[in-house]
Amino acid sequence: MTSAKISEIGKDFFLVRSKEKELHRNIYFKRFSNNGQTVNMIFDPGTKLDGDTVMDAAKRLFGGIQNIDIIFLSHQDPDVSSLTPFLLAGSKKSILLTSIDTFRLVSMYGIPEKRVVLIENFNSEVLTIKKTGHRIRFVPAYYCHFRGAMMLFDYETKILFSGDFAAGVNTKKSDEGIFATEESWEGIKIFHTIYMPSNLAVRETVDRIGLLNPLPEIIAPQHGDVIRGEFTIEFLTRLSELEVGIDYIKSTEPQKDLLLDSLSDFINRLKTAYPEEWEKLKTELKKPGQFTTVFKLERDTITDIKVDYLDALRHLIEVVERVNDPSTVNQIKTFLNFELENHNVMLPVSIQNKLKTEGEEEKVENIMF
Ligand SMILES: [Fe+2]
Ligand SMILES: [Fe+2]
Repeated sequence: MTSAKISEIGKDFFLVRSKEKELHRNIYFKRFSNNGQTVNMIFDPGTKLDGDTVMDAAKRLFGGIQNIDIIFLSHQDPDVSSLTPFLLAGSKKSILLTSIDTFRLVSMYGIPEKRVVLIENFNSEVLTIKKTGHRIRFVPAYYCHFRGAMMLFDYETKILFSGDFAAGVNTKKSDEGIFATEESWEGIKIFHTIYMPSNLAVRETVDRIGLLNPLPEIIAPQHGDVIRGEFTIEFLTRLSELEVGIDYIKSTEPQKDLLLDSLSDFINRLKTAYPEEWEKLKTELKKPGQFTTVFKLERDTITDIKVDYLDALRHLIEVVERVNDPSTVNQIKTFLNFELENHNVMLPVSIQNKLKTEGEEEKVENIMF
């Protein structure tokens, strides 16, 4: 059995992370204890891959999976929910607590209705756990990233379990800890750009969190780093301003098309002048990147860009510098620069500088007086 690394992020509120380097799952365990009574809750228990670690953690924290009382699901995605039938079978008294939209889909696992408590059937968004007196609150995260997505606020620890909202891919390099640093933001941004439908949905969810009284001290998402301290307000503020999903596609689509056109001409030029260098570059570009393959390549054509067009361009320049023969790198960069200018791709100074070839002076324009 795999021994789970358990971190306590608040009083009797525990985290177990799966081991993936790029996108891991966070599984949380909370013991509500008072007057000799305990109610054990697990949040987004993950997948079959997490079975061993969940069993181990549940044994150490709850005395075994048979003592789980409540399984809370933020939404229905398999990374969140697919261990649920196994846990329900292993803890006969447990119930599944989730939204009606989520249950409609997870019922496909063969979960009987009598084991389910639907959030919509309560008369209030605030619940008191009868046995222990603890209060919890459901906070909807509509369309973030699922219509019935639900977060859960624990008043005792002031922890907001946020599901996929405020989640991130792993971009933190310097610190191996479980808490977010400035370096975590990039991963949160990438995750929301890809998975959240629109800024409106994100902003409304941020606003709903802002109405909590007290405000959460910790945001505990299902992927990425646990957010606390100054980063709680800071990252929520940045999220409320972030272009994601459909907004993002709308705002960058014209530039992306221009970049695709310029890359097509660049490749033709490179293929003709340095066919071997093009082969090297192509092989490298086809390799999966850290989170996603940046370029979609079909034969000798780049047909799509999967990330922000400027990030894609930075990646391309970095690959050219890394894999192409040093004697040709300058020439290749010149080809690229020429085609980008030719197609009027808007470039920040940081990229213009990257495209400068060795020995080339920084471009200076004289003003008229
Ligand atoms: Fe999800
Ligand atoms: Fe997820």
